[in-house]
Amino acid sequence: MKTVVLLFHPHLDQSRVNKTLAAAAENAANVTVRNMYDLYPNFQIDVAAEQEVLKKADRVVFQFPTYWYSTPALMKQWEDDVLTHGWAYGSQGKALVGKEFVVATSTGADAENYTRGGDDNYWLAEFYRNLQDTAKLINMKYVRPFFTFDAEHITDDALARQAKRYAAYISQDSPLKILGPLQTEADYALPEL
Ligand SMILES: Cc1cc2nc3c(=O)[nH]c(=O)nc-3n(C[C@H](O)[C@H](O)[C@H](O)COP(=O)(O)O)c2cc1C
Repeated sequence: MKTVVLLFHPHLDQSRVNKTLAAAAENAANVTVRNMYDLYPNFQIDVAAEQEVLKKADRVVFQFPTYWYSTPALMKQWEDDVLTHGWAYGSQGKALVGKEFVVATSTGADAENYTRGGDDNYWLAEFYRNLQDTAKLINMKYVRPFFTFDAEHITDDALARQAKRYAAYISQDSPLKILGPLQTEADYALPEL
């Protein structure tokens, strides 16, 4: 199982959470981490190179800090440019069929905020329904996302444990659990991986 992590963080030098998670991922077996803002500081994405990377992977992890309940801008640019008609979708677009699609995101707010009645009103998984349907359209398997909440307060110990879990999760040889359409509160709550 070959995993590629597409890491989208515009200020990795100032990052604590994503930097720690990415370092753990880099040391895991069969995992490659690509620092996308380093590769494309001017948003000029090399589409052929990106498609080649995807072709070789069985599992694609999109790792990013949640910005404005969404992804950093370069990830959106990457989607717009790389997931082309006739390649990723459409009657001839079969390049990504069956590959796993993993969202790995961190938030400043804590998990309690991302519940019904919490400050942010919705479960975090709900904000990423756009990615879930994108995965469906390009025939990838949308598996359980990996969330790290409360980035400002997570202790060094808890972050180290989280990084270990992350590396184990994204490098596991067996297929990851597919997340179906979200319908019940339990789906949104995303119990332990
Ligand atoms: C521009 C910007 C927008 C943000 N938007 C959100 C948000 O919508 N929800 C949230 O919980 N945290 C938000 N945050 C906090 C980041 O998600 C948090 O700082 C990040 O996950 C920490 O990871 P890092 O240590 O790798 O930078 C935002 C931060 C920035 C700079």
